[in-house]
Amino acid sequence: MGYTPEMKELIKRVEATRAERVEKTKRGEYFTPMTLDQREDVLSKFHPDYMPEGRVAVRYGQNKGDVYPEEVVACLESYPRINPDSVDLKALETKTTDVLVIGAGGAGTSAALIAAQKGLKVILATKLRHGDANTVMAEGGIQGADHEVDSPYYHYLDCIGGGHFTNKPELVAALTHDAPIVLNWLEKLGMMFDKKPDGRMLVRHGGGTCRKRMHSAGDMTGSEIMRVLRDEARSRTDSIDIMEFTAAVEIFKDSKGRVSGALMYNLETEEYMVVKAKAVVVATGGNGRLHIQGFACTNHYGATADGLVLAYRAGAAFDFLHSTQYHPTGAAYPEQNVGLLITEKVRGLGANLLNINGEQFVFEREPRDVESAAIIRECIERGNGIRTPVGRLGVWLDSPMIEMLDGPGTVEKELPAKFMQFIRYGIDIRKEPMLIYPTLHYQNGGIRINAHTETGVPGLFAAGEVTGGVHGENRLMGNSLLDVTVFGRRAGARAFDYIQNFDGDIGELGLDHVREVMKELDALKDVPKERIGPMLLPDYTTPEVRQHQLTAHYEGTMR
Ligand code: FUM
Repeated sequence: MGYTPEMKELIKRVEATRAERVEKTKRGEYFTPMTLDQREDVLSKFHPDYMPEGRVAVRYGQNKGDVYPEEVVACLESYPRINPDSVDLKALETKTTDVLVIGAGGAGTSAALIAAQKGLKVILATKLRHGDANTVMAEGGIQGADHEVDSPYYHYLDCIGGGHFTNKPELVAALTHDAPIVLNWLEKLGMMFDKKPDGRMLVRHGGGTCRKRMHSAGDMTGSEIMRVLRDEARSRTDSIDIMEFTAAVEIFKDSKGRVSGALMYNLETEEYMVVKAKAVVVATGGNGRLHIQGFACTNHYGATADGLVLAYRAGAAFDFLHSTQYHPTGAAYPEQNVGLLITEKVRGLGANLLNINGEQFVFEREPRDVESAAIIRECIERGNGIRTPVGRLGVWLDSPMIEMLDGPGTVEKELPAKFMQFIRYGIDIRKEPMLIYPTLHYQNGGIRINAHTETGVPGLFAAGEVTGGVHGENRLMGNSLLDVTVFGRRAGARAFDYIQNFDGDIGELGLDHVREVMKELDALKDVPKERIGPMLLPDYTTPEVRQHQLTAHYEGTMR
């Protein structure tokens, strides 16, 4: 299939400026980075987070009055899947454990491993398969200051600058302090990091970093991390019980306000069951599948904000949930690839961003939100975007520069997943640029935690993308794989500390907090009863198809 003749014609303009741009890059001459004022200007005018449209205040609970994307508020203002007054918990199958970890991506699996290592019994529950998570979708790398010229101090400053000085300092300190420890831990678990010929770690720049500290495994870094975490957890059959296709739909609390487990739903058998636990770790990931403001997303299928709903009903609060990350380079063509991540590593390897005239318009390593806003401005305000046959807009990411800079074979070696992702549609990214546009990538905010992953609700811990604070209003590349491993490990360790001081047995399986939420929703009067949460899986069925299914079902014609 490849590019259309019209697009091929436009690519000639990119080719016309390529040799000169490559020479400039070799000389270390880059497009001028923006000043702080220029960054603020482009963000305020073009970043979706700064637009008033599509944002509303949540109307109940700990963060009442805070303004979030309307898709997130709809999840929070949803009725429970089970009415507490109509379920006989005693009649349900029950399992008892020390720690229940909800979510089995990087954060959940790290938490389970550390808790098990400390001698706890763990149930690791996931609504899909073990490892179906945004961790495996992360491509470019994991940050960590483990080289002589670097230090956690510089890493800390980069994070705070990238987050517009809004990040919670104690969380950033924990993230950057633990980073070298985590890199070492992952390597001991068997992770195959990219190395230099002398055996030292290969490191690169990411957007907004003052030192090269991006560690990678090709462009499948998250997948490689998940491989070793998953293998390790699945070998701990004595202490980690893995429950797949099983979602948590409500957290229990006893009369002292302590968490006492969760009500679970098996998506295969459609049966409910109870897990009693002294501590619960929420590690359910992000909300990309809510498609905030209609954006395509890079996220895995289960990223539906479930942990936010569960924890909020149980009394946890949020930080920075108003803030969403749009990755600058999502695929805009071909249509089958739309929204998929094109790793920042492509720009780290030297590829320029170019408009319809083959001109550079932005420094390639601005912080992500600034980079995305600049691309949106180039397409929308300046009219310099390239249109796809279905009417999408995008700009070029000039990947053929990479082999001109680093030699033949670099693309297949450094970007094997990207190469495959495009060659199957007739686009050879060694020779042709990729068309890109910002894509919804990451939930910057979420459940409020301290550096020990405590949420303020006794016995409830949270780690990874479901939490907020560590990245402030903008995360830097490579800090999410770090976040899941650092705070996942911390959650497992803190759950252990908590259980050491646990008083008595696991309390009653109370759902009074859910009854209270239902009363609040009733009082709002406009929340549809059929809007239920947690969502569990996104619904891509169009209203027309849904109507057809219903009609066919009731008329008995459904096949
Ligand atoms: O661009 C990327 O490879 C994405 C990495 C990240 O979000 O950390």
